Formats: sequence, C-alpha cells, structure tokens
Amino acid sequence: MTQIVMHSFAKALGSRKITNDDLSRMMETSDEWITQRTGIKSRFWAEPGIGSSDLAVDATRESFKQSGTDHVDAIIAATLSPDHYFPGIGVLIQTKLGLKNIPAFDIRQQCSGFLYGIQMAHSLIKSGTYKRILLVGSEVHSTGLDISTRGRDLAVLFGDGAGSCIIEEATTAPTNTTRFEIIDSELHSDGADARELWCELPGSVHFTSAITPDEFQHGAVFPKMNGRRVFENAVKRMTEVCNSLLSKNNIKSEQVSHFIPHQANTRINEMVANLLQISPERCFNTIQNYGNTTAATIPIGFTDAISSNRFKSQEFVLSAAFGSGFTWGSAIFKVV
Ligand code: UT7
Repeated sequence: MTQIVMHSFAKALGSRKITNDDLSRMMETSDEWITQRTGIKSRFWAEPGIGSSDLAVDATRESFKQSGTDHVDAIIAATLSPDHYFPGIGVLIQTKLGLKNIPAFDIRQQCSGFLYGIQMAHSLIKSGTYKRILLVGSEVHSTGLDISTRGRDLAVLFGDGAGSCIIEEATTAPTNTTRFEIIDSELHSDGADARELWCELPGSVHFTSAITPDEFQHGAVFPKMNGRRVFENAVKRMTEVCNSLLSKNNIKSEQVSHFIPHQANTRINEMVANLLQISPERCFNTIQNYGNTTAATIPIGFTDAISSNRFKSQEFVLSAAFGSGFTWGSAIFKVV
C-alpha cells in the first residue's frame, strides 16, 4: 500500500519573549496562577505589523530547506488569526514564497486545524490529485487579545507561532529528515457549543461598520471562553477519539511511544495521557515555552521532539487536539 509521509518539520515564533512576570505588569495575574492552572511559563509575541502569513512563511522556508526543494503542488494553511478578514492566509503565503498559481486552501478549525489539514492532505495525495503538499499552521494571537485584567483568563494562555511540514508519498520524500507515515486520522465537530469559545465580532451577521462604541467598550471584538466547559470537553473528547482511532487500527496504547497533543493546558494533557494509560514521559509538551499557539501547537511539537532526538524507526506516534467549534480529532503515525 502507498506510504504517505510528513517530513521536514519546522517552526517560527514571535520575536518577543513574554514571561508570566511580564504579564503580571500588564494585568492582575501572577506567575503562580498561570503556572499552576496551565503549566505556561512564557510565550512569544510577534512585532507589530507581523501577521500569521509572515510566521507561516518563516517556518515554511525552513521546511523547504530541509526537504531540498520548494516545489509543492498545493498549500493547506490553518489559522484562526488570518492577517485580514479575507482573503485567507493561504494565498498570502503562496505569493510571499513565489509559488506561482498553485491552489491554496485555508482551513478554520482552530486548535484542531492541523489535524484537519493532515486528513485533507493525506486524502488529496492518496486520490492522486496532488503529489506534494505544504501544510502549515500559524497564529498571531497577541494582536487579538484583550491584554488587560478584563481579558486575563484568555490573554495569559496564547502565543504567536507557526509550524510547517511537507506531505507526500514516501517514494519521493527525502530520507535525511525524520519521516512519519500517516496511518489514519479521525475528526469530529459539534457546533452546538460554538459560543463556548468564540470571537463574536467582526462577522457577517454584524459587520465591522455596525460595531457600536458600546460593543467595543464591552470587548465583543475579543475572544471569550467558558474555560471549565472547554476543559471538561477537551479531556473527554480527546480521550474518546484517541481510543476510537487506536482500536480501529488495532494499536494498543502501550504500543504508542510518543503522544504529541495540542497544547492548551498541561493539566488537560496529563489527564488525557493518564486515561489512555500513556505514561507522562511519553507525552511531549511545549506549552511551558510557547503557550497555546492553536493551529501551530502540533507541528511545533513535532519540530521540537525531532530536535531532541526522541524518535526511533518503527515507533508509533499519536496526536490529538480539541478546540473552538467544538472541533476535535486524532491521528496516528509511524516513524519510517
Ligand atoms: O486551545 C483551545 C482550548 N482551550 C482550552 O482547552 C482551555 C481549557 N480551560 C482551561 O485550561 C482552564 O479552564 C483555564 C486555565 C482557562 C482556567 O482555569 P480554571 O481552573 O478553570 O479557572 P477559572 O476560570 O475557574 O478561574 C478561577 C479564578 C477566577 O476567580 P474567582 O472567580 O475564583 O475569584 C478567575 O477570575 O481565577 C481567576 N482568573 C485569574 N486569576 C489570575 C482567571 N484568569 C486569571 C489570571 N490570573 N490570568
């Protein structure tokens, strides 16, 4: 059977490191609160004027360098923080990289965006539509957050960053980078909970010109979250989807050498790993350094895990995510 692999993982971060103590000078919060509740110690914010497409381009250039070519047949870009209301960042990445006229998809599945992208790229290559796809997740959150005590529940969680990889058949992929065969993936969504983690404005139901000074005043343009409900659902859904995917593929959780989940909260990942009976040392977290970079957390995790030489040939790697929508999913890979 055709082996389709992800390879040449790379990341890019905002250039300003912001520690919890830095945030404590901007709002009523503390290193102790943030560390205990989330595990985050620092995050990176981009310079003003830098958009998600710029970080995506920085990560992609490094992926191209590793893969030895900048030839791709299509771009799939995942973000919840596009540079502009429209067009999406896919076309901006395409033109900034000088990739002439190739199709560019934008997907808007927030924290699950990269896993949605993996399933999409896998299917498009399997069907023969494209041979080599750039998949990139990128976010600039710092410009869209309420950086004040009013917005502290979300402002302390998020960071700016991008992660990218190339997806193609193993026969054409370079052999000098770590390669992960995509075995299978499973995705879900439930829009009934859309308002539990969302940004209400601007939007077509109530366009920018109609936003009143009062709505600005009350922060309707900033994201809102029912943290407890999101937390409980993240643990439940990520565990459920991983169990379902593993059992469908006849893989037991003890065979999983590495768990590289989305990074929303170390407590969520510890609970999910525990429920899946994956020991803590097999769960790879990066949130302590970067905060939650939404669509970029999973490729950033792969990039850092590769840099720390964690992978051995034939090992199984599991990933999972949950986020706004609600959307959630899981994917299983083999190091080849
Ligand atoms: O990737 C997208 C998906 N997102 C997630 O999965 C996030 C899921 N949710 C969470 O990770 C957690 O719910 C949070 C980390 C966001 C919050 O933790 P929590 O234990 O659920 O705290 P809480 O929201 O119940 O807030 C507890 C207290 C409140 O004060 P009172 O009402 O008890 O007096 C908050 O006002 O903590 C207060 N608080 C803060 N205090 C200091 C909220 N944010 C902060 C803050 N610093 N930044």
